[in-house]
Parts: sequence; C-alpha cells; structure tokens
Amino acid sequence: MQPRLFSEFILFMTHNYDWLDTEREALEQAGLRRHLRTVRSAPTGTINLDGRDVVLLGSNNYLGLSTHPKVIAAAVEATQVFGTGASGSRLISGNNELYTTLETNLAKTKGTEAALVFSSGYAANTSIIPVLADEGDLILSDALNHASIIDGCRLSRATKKVYRHCDMEHLKVLLSESTKFRRRLIVTDGVFSMDGDIAPLPDICDLALEHNAMVLVDDAHGFGILGKDGSGTISHFGLEGEAIIQMGTFSKSIGALGGYIGGSHALIELLINRARGFIFTTGLPPATLAAANAALDVMRSSPDLRRCLFSHAKFLKTALIDLGYTLLPSETQILPVVLGSPQRATSVAEALLAEGIFAPAIRPPAVPPDTSRLRLTVMATHTKAEIQRAISGFTTVFRKSR
Ligand SMILES: Cc1ncc(COP(=O)(O)O)c(C=O)c1O
Repeated sequence: MQPRLFSEFILFMTHNYDWLDTEREALEQAGLRRHLRTVRSAPTGTINLDGRDVVLLGSNNYLGLSTHPKVIAAAVEATQVFGTGASGSRLISGNNELYTTLETNLAKTKGTEAALVFSSGYAANTSIIPVLADEGDLILSDALNHASIIDGCRLSRATKKVYRHCDMEHLKVLLSESTKFRRRLIVTDGVFSMDGDIAPLPDICDLALEHNAMVLVDDAHGFGILGKDGSGTISHFGLEGEAIIQMGTFSKSIGALGGYIGGSHALIELLINRARGFIFTTGLPPATLAAANAALDVMRSSPDLRRCLFSHAKFLKTALIDLGYTLLPSETQILPVVLGSPQRATSVAEALLAEGIFAPAIRPPAVPPDTSRLRLTVMATHTKAEIQRAISGFTTVFRKSR
C-alpha cells in the first residue's frame, strides 16, 4: 500500500464528516437549530443572560430552593466534610452515608416503603423501565410523556404502545387487547412537562387494577408543588397506599440534581441489582445529596412558597389571556403559550428577549409538530415587580405583532 500524505489523510477524514454540515443546514431550514446561551448568575427571578439582566420565565427551580440559605449551607458543609466527588459508583465506593439520609427522608415524604436515588431523572427513567418490562411484556405510554420515558421504553425489549394523551378510553382498549402479554406497565408523567396538565391518575389506577397492570408515575413537575406538603401528584389525588411506582427528580422544585424511584423494598432491591443507569455510573457529589436533603425539609415546611407560586401563575396566566395570547389549559406553574411553527415560537421568544424577558421557545422533538410554544414557568421567589415587567414585555410584543 502506498503511504498516504498527512494532508491527504486530513482531506479524506474531512469528507467523512461532511454530513454534519448537511444536518446543521437541515436543522436551520426547519427552524429547529438550537444555540447555547450563557447564564452568569443564580437562577433567581432576574438572571444575567449573555451579559444582560432579564426576567427569567424558563426555570424549573419553581420554589427558589437552589439559592435557599439552608440548602446552600448544607451543600458547603458536605463539601468540607466529604470533598467534591463520590469517587466511585454506589455499589463500589461511592455510597456516601448522605444517600441513606436522603433516601430515608424521601421515602417518608413520598409515603413509600423505600427509595433509591439515581444520578438524574433521565437515568432513573431509562434504568427502571427496562427492569420493569422486558421481552414478552407490554408498555403503555401516554403520547406526551417526557423524552426520558420514551428513551426508557426504547431501551426495553417489551412491546410498546402509545395511548392518546390522557385518553382513558384508548388506554382501556389497549389494555383489553393485552392478555397475551406476561406483564403490563402503564407509564405517565404526573404533571406533563410541556403542557402543565395533570394525568388522570385515579382512572389510570382503576384500569390498572382491572387489567393487572403496574403503574409508573414520573412526578418530576408535581413534586414540591402538589399534594400534602408538596409530596406530589399521587398525594394530590389521595392515592397514597396504591401500588404506584413513583419516579421523580431533585432537579426541579428541589433545586439540585438527581433522580429517584419510590416503591417497595422488593423493587428497590431489584433496581440495585439490575438497573444499568444505577450500577454503571459514579455516585452524586456529596454537596448535591446534602442540598437535596435540606431542600426536601424546606419544601415540606413551606406551604407559603406553594401559595406564592400558584398566585404568580394565576396572575400571569390571567394577564396573558386578557392580552389575547392562547394558553393551554394548564393547572400548574407551567404555562404553555402555543404559537405553532418553530420559526414563530423562536421569533416571539427573540422579541421578548429584546424586551428583557427570557421565555425560551420549545420546539420539536420536545413537543409535537405544529405546537411549538413558549413554556413559561413562574417561581415562588419571583417578585410582583418581575411578573409585572414580564407582562409589560408581552404587551409590547403583542402590540408590535398586530
Ligand atoms: C417529566 C420529566 N421527567 C424526567 C426528566 C429528567 O430529569 P433530570 O433533569 O433530573 O434528568 C425531566 C426533566 O428534564 C422531566 O421534565
């Protein structure tokens, strides 16, 4: 073989990657190209974004706990005692005692026998679903479930069927056709991440009982917000004690990081042995565990934060509807303003940014085609003045668009 010149090699390699430019161009043409922005402040009501102060309407730090003094103090102390990293996976050397404290506290909050913490909500969903359902089993998944549930379903060898969003008649039909499967798993968001509506869990539980199905609820956006002391959507419906497997995350209301599963001792034991996203990854940093634990305590004992959050949500929603914007009928702190095409959503988001309002555009695949939107979220720690500033920004943008 003739030796190649280095320059020839580079040319050859470069051509192998031409498709990257084609892909980027396709994203651009479809209005789906995404860019990273840089935040230079904590996620409070007003942040410094790319060097400018703007009102933040796109944070999941719903209760403002990521900057709560008790939470920060706990994180600092844990770092001083245990250092910055876990240094190993939980089954090897990374199972810091802070995990035990957090899991005990969490199980108590959720009303489950036991709980298990993962490194993220994404890891929890992609890990548990393949454990619960394998070849010969059936997964029934709501059409608007979060991407981490969809990916968990993809990783499972079970048959998957998607039921229309919150359509209990459709779910019933699919369940009645499911007798040939060994096990059945119904999986749903508790509060839907992009729409803000709440899954009809009592009906889902009735159907599950009738058809011998397991139920997994992803409560990422209901935790801290709904139910007794913010314990979540299951409590909101008074379904404590039902055999529901509860999934959630510390990355939203809790203001930290880490996913979790709440369920029976038997389930947790099996996950420790089989969940690949639990076994094959390093434990969370001590600061994160301590922050999540402190934030859980603050969350439970702060009904005033939830009251404030719902009051802000109602105020902003009413003002936007009065202005003429179309909002989905959300019942929570998530307020979706549906605009249609990705290009329209992006241009409205840009116009708002020019007015000092950061309301990020959400486009496919995060939402179905033609439902690109602004996903507005309020925080308990927004000031009235910040919400008012946001409304003024929307007013200006709405007038200019007519
Ligand atoms: C409904 C839902 N489930 C799971 C996740 C993933 O959680 P995490 O951000 O902790 O990975 C998210 C957030 O992105 C979510 O919105």
